[in-house]
Amino acid sequence: MSSRFENQVAVVTGGSTGIGLAIARALLAEGAKRVYVTGRSARSLDTAVTSLGERAVAVTSDVAQLPDLDRLKAAIERNGDQIDALFANAGIAGNNALGATSEADYLNIFDINVKGVFFTVQTLLPLLKDGASVVLTSSIVNNKGMENLSLYTATKAAVRSFARSWANDLKGRRIRVNALSPGFTHTPILTTGLKMDEQQISQFKEYAAGVVPAGYVAQPDEIASSALFLASNDARYVNGIDLPVDGGYAQI
Ligand SMILES: NC(=O)c1ccc[n+]([C@@H]2O[C@H](COP(=O)([O-])OP(=O)(O)OC[C@H]3O[C@@H](n4cnc5c(N)ncnc54)[C@H](OP(=O)(O)O)[C@@H]3O)[C@@H](O)[C@H]2O)c1
Repeated sequence: MSSRFENQVAVVTGGSTGIGLAIARALLAEGAKRVYVTGRSARSLDTAVTSLGERAVAVTSDVAQLPDLDRLKAAIERNGDQIDALFANAGIAGNNALGATSEADYLNIFDINVKGVFFTVQTLLPLLKDGASVVLTSSIVNNKGMENLSLYTATKAAVRSFARSWANDLKGRRIRVNALSPGFTHTPILTTGLKMDEQQISQFKEYAAGVVPAGYVAQPDEIASSALFLASNDARYVNGIDLPVDGGYAQI
């Protein structure tokens, strides 16, 4: 096991389950001094930090609420920490039918997936070290037109766009900003966001086996390893990109 994050401080929004939890676990395994994980549910965060151990710090914080982001910043400052790696990963998914989408549905997904990413980075900017790395979780849908997913895909296109602009905005501080675009990944979002039941998940896996060159749906740690690559010194000359981690699905 390498130790690319030895003595480093990282923040993972949406770090209580799925891809974010896998990122936090991998950072700690690679020597991180402290990893702050956030989410809205205190209960999920408790379960997460119990499994992650004492170098993980849970901060209950909703990325769509600016006072919550200020509390996250204050919690990091209280420990005297500055941030080496920021993973703006929190996000939700949901289907929306064009013609039957409410304003509340629109605001909810844009508030979390777009406003949340924007203000996570802006709020924590003063705590980022010069030369730090920011990884934004987008999605392979960010340049696709998927049926009944127009809101989700638009939010992920915005996230991809932030990576381009912020790589430019933050060049003076040598802060790299990249987007990470997972493909099909087995996480709670399939049930909580896309409302799949067990049978639908198993049909989805069969479908994926046929259309994804890798032949299966990824596990969160297979996405996390690429997130860590982007944040690490191994990727020191990688900036502003969108890295698809999708078993080849959107590449063929
Ligand atoms: N799974 C996939 O196939 C896939 C593919 C492409 C991209 N992604 C992206 O990957 C990211 C992680 O998703 P996942 O698949 O790992 O799903 P997940 O297991 O549902 O994880 C989502 C995480 O974000 C947190 N979260 C949601 N809304 C939040 C908010 N308003 N404020 C703070 N935290 C919030 C959740 O905790 P709480 O609910 O407790 O807040 C949870 O920790 C998302 O941005 C998603 O769009 C996933």
